[in-house]
Amino acid sequence: MHKSETATLIIDGQTYELPVLRGTEDEVALDVSNLRSQAGVITFDPGYANTGACYSAISFVDGEKGILRYRGYPIEQLAKFSSFVETAMLLVFGELPSREEREAFRTMLGDQALLHEDLMHHFEGFPPHGHPMAILSAVINSLGAYHPDLLQIETVEEFRQAVAKLMSKVRTIAAFSYRKSMGRPIIYPDPSRSYCENFLHMMFTVPYKEHVPSPEAQKALDLFLLVHADHEQNCSCSTVRMVGSSEANLFASVSAGICALWGRLHGGANSAVVHMLQHIREGDFTVKDCIEKVKKKEFRLMGFGHRVYKNFDPRAKVLKECATELLNSLRINDRLLDIAQELEEIALKDEFFLSRRLYPNVDFYSGLILRALNIPVNMFPVMFAMGRMPGWIAHWHEQHMEESTRIHRPRQVYVGPNIRDYVLMKDR
Ligand code: SDX
Repeated sequence: MHKSETATLIIDGQTYELPVLRGTEDEVALDVSNLRSQAGVITFDPGYANTGACYSAISFVDGEKGILRYRGYPIEQLAKFSSFVETAMLLVFGELPSREEREAFRTMLGDQALLHEDLMHHFEGFPPHGHPMAILSAVINSLGAYHPDLLQIETVEEFRQAVAKLMSKVRTIAAFSYRKSMGRPIIYPDPSRSYCENFLHMMFTVPYKEHVPSPEAQKALDLFLLVHADHEQNCSCSTVRMVGSSEANLFASVSAGICALWGRLHGGANSAVVHMLQHIREGDFTVKDCIEKVKKKEFRLMGFGHRVYKNFDPRAKVLKECATELLNSLRINDRLLDIAQELEEIALKDEFFLSRRLYPNVDFYSGLILRALNIPVNMFPVMFAMGRMPGWIAHWHEQHMEESTRIHRPRQVYVGPNIRDYVLMKDR
């Protein structure tokens, strides 16, 4: 990043010079960090669509070109050559690991998979059909109570421990919440299994029959998690940064990120896509009806559109191919895939979508992969959270290590009543 030029702002005849910042991919930003003290004015940007909140070296997204890179590596190359655990290490520690580093971290993940047995009471406290995102955010936050030594992370080793605990235990908590909701006995993690194999084992093994996930299922889940691992300053990541900016601990910060991700406009969209496709499959309305309803603004085409991508979301392309391959390899004929492809084909030729630059996003095909893995729809945002965990951790840590970090405290434009005197009850 370098500051080179300046921009001139004239307000009430006064001229102000604002520094212009230029990122490593030549994005240009106006530095308004001293605007209020200089000119007595603030910027106004609801939804922060035009506001850069920080410097970051973790992910780069070019929405116009449909580019996503993790620490400079194109998502397409990571999807083809890397794995979720290796990509998580890249995001969190900054570089691709050596073979030894990767194997050492895998061992740490295996060693950290168990939860403190007292935590099992937490699961008992939820009603059988309590939403797994409520369970996940609650139990993740409570990890801080069981690891008080990691409420203040000061050393590299403490950070490594916290990363391994969160990445491994989010998987265990997800599986346990599913088992409780199904009234099935808990299956404990098996450290000899890989990240995805261990998760599917905890989800689907039953006392009388061990679940041995197919290589195709493990590969598809690994790819699903990898492409969800980070996405720069999205709503949930910004929430983690906001909470972390007050020096709240890492567990509390990512727990807040889970809550933000739950919304249907964000990580809840993958479930909303499947519900929409199911409505069409049940004959409630046709694909063409759906498109017409969207154009009449009766509802949004879930899994389409993006604040940043005004082109194809590169993750949607990867996941579409993954869903097609997985369904073929498992010989599953899922009508929802056909409906999704029909919707995409029609939308991408329709002026309503083209003029608004609405393309399929990461959520449009992701749910079809999870369905093929027999993961229930209410667990879809939980799967997104499992994937996004390394990204949240990386951003929290990047901010935590940044000397100049200040508590996030936006301003506002007040539109309420002007000053007025209190009215006694007898006069109201
Ligand atoms: C994720 O930020 C990230 O990086 C998020 C994410 C990540 O990895 O963290 O990529 C993950 O959250 C993906 C998005 C998942 N959400 C959905 O699929 C829900 C459906 N999509 C939208 O609601 C919407 O596109 C958003 C929320 C994703 C983006 O909303 P914006 O940027 O605020 O866009 P907008 O609401 O200002 O819409 C601009 C126009 C409007 O129409 P007009 O007022 O100009 O007539 O586009 C329309 C909107 O009505 N529009 C849609 C639409 N999305 C936007 N119309 C129909 N269907 C849609 N999906």
